[in-house]
Amino acid sequence: MAVGQKLYEGKAKILYATEDPNILLTHFKDDATAFNAQKKGSITGKGEFNCAISTHLFKLMEANGIPTHFIDRTFPNEMRVKSVKILPLEVVVRNIAAGSLCQQTGLKLGTILTPPLVEFYYKNDELGDPLLTFDRLRVLDLATPDQVDQLIELASRINQILTDFFQQCGITLVDFKLEFGCVSSVGQSANHTGQIILADEISPDTCRLWNQAESDPNKRVMDKDRFRRDLGNVEDAYRQVMERVLQQTI
Ligand code: TMP
Repeated sequence: MAVGQKLYEGKAKILYATEDPNILLTHFKDDATAFNAQKKGSITGKGEFNCAISTHLFKLMEANGIPTHFIDRTFPNEMRVKSVKILPLEVVVRNIAAGSLCQQTGLKLGTILTPPLVEFYYKNDELGDPLLTFDRLRVLDLATPDQVDQLIELASRINQILTDFFQQCGITLVDFKLEFGCVSSVGQSANHTGQIILADEISPDTCRLWNQAESDPNKRVMDKDRFRRDLGNVEDAYRQVMERVLQQTI
């Protein structure tokens, strides 16, 4: 694996090899996509905003005992991360009904969900990231029952930490998506064994965030819904989230 070799390019990030096989470099792109890349665009400064926000939130997680892949931020839009085998799952936590939950169930936008919903989606672009049932998870062998229990427990703890944190920022955490990876220890050949740690990113690309100072349902949106729904002022919203997040000490 050559140093600097591009290992993977996703819709929002690129992963590069480093001199250490256990460490990868993540480059956060300004590119934005929605609806499984049917809509494409660019958000100026997004790479830097999302890298800064994710850095702060990963540090917040570590400070609260949640293991993450984060090592350090090496450039405004680059961070070093531990190399992990990503579980092919998107774990979505919902505190308030929005997005696909409303579209698919008819629940009214803004309905408070107590307790929060924890959902699993199959991370598979060709299939359009379908919602999974526990039986489908088992049939597809995407995670062991023990791993599913661990993921629910981790996602619920992360939700509590993030909800409290964003509350301090004057922001309501509506919902968010997490990805997890497995750290393989020396001598392990199986892919998805080992400790489960939080990976990917936590940013306005992967969360729904509502400004508590705004009651207008469009003006309050501070996340990628501004891009998805052509609400305008996308860069301003991301910058505002970054400024409020970075103001909070951990
Ligand atoms: P949804 O309501 O569209 O299912 O989205 C739920 C949450 O997951 C929302 O905060 C946005 C985030 N999300 C992603 O991070 N990536 C995706 O591909 C999708 C569809 C949603």
